[in-house]
Formats: sequence, C-alpha cells, structure tokens
Amino acid sequence: MSKVLHDKLNVYLANQQIMYIKLHNLHWYVKGRGFFTLHAKLEELYNQTAEIMDQVAERLLALGGSPVASAKNALSLASVKELEDAPISSDDTVRGMISDVEYWIRDTNEIVKLAEEDGDGATADMFNGYLAEYQKLLWMLKSHMA
Ligand SMILES: [Fe+2]
Repeated sequence: MSKVLHDKLNVYLANQQIMYIKLHNLHWYVKGRGFFTLHAKLEELYNQTAEIMDQVAERLLALGGSPVASAKNALSLASVKELEDAPISSDDTVRGMISDVEYWIRDTNEIVKLAEEDGDGATADMFNGYLAEYQKLLWMLKSHMA
C-alpha cells in the first residue's frame, strides 16, 4: 500500500469516527417536522458508520497499516466539522447532512482512484460499494428537501 493511500484511508477513518458522534448529536437534538423519520434515519446511519469504521480500520490492518484509534488523533486528522450540543431544526439537519454527504462522495471517489493506481482492486471495490450507498443517501436527502 502506498503511503498516500494509507494516510488517506486514515483521514477517511477519522472522519467516520467523528461522523459517528455527529450523527448521534443530530439523532438526539433534531427538532421539528419530520422528527420521527429523521431520528430513525440517523440511528440507521450511525450504525452503518460504525460498520464502515470497522471495515476501513481492518482493511488498513490487512494491508499492514496502522489505523487511527484514539479520539484525540481522530480529531486532529478529521475534516468533518462537529456541531454544538444544542437543538437543531430538521431542515438545518438535512442541509448539513447534504454537504457532509457531498464531501463523502468526493472523498470516497478519490480513494477508489488511489486504490486503482495502487493496483488494489479489493480496496477499490470496497469503496465503490460505499460510493453507491452515499449517492443513494444524497438522492434521499435532496428528495426530503424538495
Ligand atoms: Fe437512540
């Protein structure tokens, strides 16, 4: 595995770790119209995030890498922005998620390309799977706002 791919996978992992906390924040603090739907969807998403975190960390290990495994290091690597511990409207929740998911799509695409350059088809396949999930989620979030 190239150092570029190793470091990029760790930033991805750190972002998932922060996202796991952020999705709980939204699950707890979302207010207003669509509460029940969003509250349930956010739970599904943080559970999915937990699975992705574990898969990415174990992929790094399988390739001889070292996954980021502390909150301190995850925060220093992550580019996802955290939220205040405060109520947030359902519209602001979905708008914020749209911009996070757009970032995920770009970042996931970059990893697919790096893995392909590395001749690592298994990692490229894994991230292509995440890419399809994020593209579907983006369509759903935009449909919610339409
Ligand atoms: Fe809950």
